[in-house]
Amino acid sequence: MKPRLALIGPGRVGQAVTARLRGCGYPIAAVVGRDLQRTRAAAEFIGAELMATTDIRRCASAQLILLAVGDDQIATVARELFANAAPGSDCTIIHFSGLHPAQVMRTKNCRSALLSLHPLQTFASAASGLERLPGSYCAIEGDATAYPLGRQIAADLGCNAFTIASSDKALYHAAACMAANFVTTLLDASAGLLAACGDGGIALAVMRPLVEAALNNTLEMGGEQALTGPIVRGDSTTVASHLDALKQRQPQLLNIYIQLASQTVELAQRSRRLDSERSASIKALLGNFKQAE
Ligand SMILES: NC(=O)c1ccc[n+]([C@@H]2O[C@H](COP(=O)([O-])OP(=O)(O)OC[C@H]3O[C@@H](n4cnc5c(N)ncnc54)[C@H](OP(=O)(O)O)[C@@H]3O)[C@@H](O)[C@H]2O)c1
Repeated sequence: MKPRLALIGPGRVGQAVTARLRGCGYPIAAVVGRDLQRTRAAAEFIGAELMATTDIRRCASAQLILLAVGDDQIATVARELFANAAPGSDCTIIHFSGLHPAQVMRTKNCRSALLSLHPLQTFASAASGLERLPGSYCAIEGDATAYPLGRQIAADLGCNAFTIASSDKALYHAAACMAANFVTTLLDASAGLLAACGDGGIALAVMRPLVEAALNNTLEMGGEQALTGPIVRGDSTTVASHLDALKQRQPQLLNIYIQLASQTVELAQRSRRLDSERSASIKALLGNFKQAE
């Protein structure tokens, strides 16, 4: 028998997760938002039209409460929940932040188990999030007594689960941002360079086969095996040409090139395909350009 579920915060993640869990047989006790009209539309998406409310006390009968509000709202809304609905020791409360530990929900009068369950996925909308959930990974953190329920929820979402320590959440979230956001930033910057060479309109299309191959190779083989290019070949003349061109034409990108090239030298050395002499010569070149900045 699945626990009775209440959702507080019927946004993109809350709607996608609750819709999927409802489909797996979790009875819905309440869908709580701050605007009744928006909450009704969300409850309709979930398939629980009659459960829309702005009254947080309707969570009192739930055994599982999903607190899917924005990160800055989690602690405040948790306090409001404990003050008004008094969830008991048979209740588990889950938030979805990748950054905050479950403990941010803890108040003096809290008797419930607390978890954070972070889907490593992007929810541009509830519908696209719902579609992308299966096969994603969820990081679970918080009260160990609630791990079995967290794992069950992840499985019901079609996701794989792993646990992380509370003290690692900020580092974990930095990793997720580097993988998702910084890859986007890097591709955007690279498209800018291509645009400076000609038709900017096709820059992303031109890069697609190359980027897809590099990404797939890295995900399949790991960075050490997947790495190609002038640095792992020890070709310092090519790196020097890149640095000169960037300095003259796109100096705002020189710093990031130097930083990433330095990290790439480390990776190439780890792969044992770049010997220490050639690595030292590329490092010296990068160091000279850095100093000149
Ligand atoms: N989006 C992602 O890609 C993603 C991925 C993984 C994890 N997460 C995490 O998931 C959580 C939710 O993110 P989201 O992107 O789904 O945010 P969102 O779309 O902005 O949804 C937040 C929802 O909370 C509601 N809300 C705010 N204060 C409330 C209150 N006092 N009482 C009831 N409802 C309240 C908002 O209602 P209004 O309509 O009134 O504003 C909105 O429906 C965050 O912790 C986020 O870090 C997000």
